[in-house]
Amino acid sequence: MEKRANFSSKLGIVLASAGSAVGLGNVWRFPTEVGTGGGAAFILIYILCVVLIGMPLMVAEFVIGRHTHKNPADAYRQLAPRSGWIAQGYLGVFTAWFILCYYGVVAGWTMKYLVEALTTRLDDVSDSAAYFSAFSGATWEPLIYLVIVMLMCHFIIIRGVQAGIERSSKLMMPLLLLIIAVLVVFSFSMPGSSEGLKFLLKPDFSKLSSSVVLSAMGQAFFSLSIAMGCLCTYASYFTDDARLMKTACSVASIDTVVAVMAGFILFPAVFSVEAVTPDAGPGLVFITLPHVFRIAFGSVPIIGWFFSVMFYLLLLLAALTSMVSIHEPPTAFLLEHFKLSRPVATTIVTVISIGMGILCSLSFGPLADVKPLFGLTFFDFFDFVSAKVFLPVGGIIVSLFVGWRLDKQIVVDQLTNRGSLHVPASVISVFIFLLRWLIPIAMISIFIKELGIL
Ligand code: TRP
Repeated sequence: MEKRANFSSKLGIVLASAGSAVGLGNVWRFPTEVGTGGGAAFILIYILCVVLIGMPLMVAEFVIGRHTHKNPADAYRQLAPRSGWIAQGYLGVFTAWFILCYYGVVAGWTMKYLVEALTTRLDDVSDSAAYFSAFSGATWEPLIYLVIVMLMCHFIIIRGVQAGIERSSKLMMPLLLLIIAVLVVFSFSMPGSSEGLKFLLKPDFSKLSSSVVLSAMGQAFFSLSIAMGCLCTYASYFTDDARLMKTACSVASIDTVVAVMAGFILFPAVFSVEAVTPDAGPGLVFITLPHVFRIAFGSVPIIGWFFSVMFYLLLLLAALTSMVSIHEPPTAFLLEHFKLSRPVATTIVTVISIGMGILCSLSFGPLADVKPLFGLTFFDFFDFVSAKVFLPVGGIIVSLFVGWRLDKQIVVDQLTNRGSLHVPASVISVFIFLLRWLIPIAMISIFIKELGIL
């Protein structure tokens, strides 16, 4: 049998997993949630969610992946043969595929904005909102960018675990962290930026409500790439000496620091131009920010140019490393389950993703009125089904599976690297308790809230 691929170093493991976690979710979703959720009060709740829910679930996925050294679908089949749990493995593989389709569309937009910023064309736009809707609603241009980013992801995945995923993460993640640091300094030095900082740091506990707490939980989930088989697949390539709990701490810390830094970049910059709460979602990075850059451009052009190029490069890097992690689970599944070669498996995933991505992209233009399912466009449907339905369901299943069903000895072996590491018994008990009780209950509440049942 062919030897299974693995990451070559602990640094590679942390950077690849952090690459999966740090994505569009950190750069635009987090700052907007902070804005609407009461500034620092939201950040505090978010950190609690990361520590109590996100990290244990991440470790749970690591345990499954590294114990079996298999793709998610075959991992569950090995651990719980002929049982309903196998569905979770398939759910991970296919939801990852769904996420890839619409994530690729947005990654394509960031590439377009990077090109426009580089060539200074962003500067000539007088109405950012109209410009964005004309671009995203067009037929061909967004498709070209979608195909370009999908192909970039394709050529990373096709090279395999070490030469593809690990090498690209070792290159892109340090660059990403460097850009963040530079942008924070830039943003702080803009006149009037302190208003934005105040807005971000002032804890407004009056805005805290159960729905804000649930949003923080949902955000922690999406941002840490949990429950979709991404981390489980990466963990199947971990070496035996990797420390699962320590890796989860490092990844969660990097992810949270990047999210908070993104807030430190966006709010001071936006407030230095006008004291408004930025638009939510795509509006923030594709409409409000170009406006901010243009104003900055007016006074000192080179700074505006530099800031915008760096910002969209940051967004593209973040999106790409996440896309790679979403591409790998279905690829690993096809490769191992159907014994395909890596190039064939990668190509199948890329071609189908581009096909479905085209439907998502066109739903901002020619297919805007085509709402085949639940009255949603293709883009909204993929987003809704994966992020709002399968994600929480997956989280509940992973926590119940590792908490209740998985042999406790496997958990202990994985956490202690078969006894060679000392992990206090109390830490393991708390870990199991969180998976058995707190996480399923918390997740069921997110689910009910997100579906609007409550
Ligand atoms: N975590 C990434 C972000 O913040 C997105 C992502 C990658 C993801 N893999 C995932 C989200 C798996 C959910 C599940 O943008």
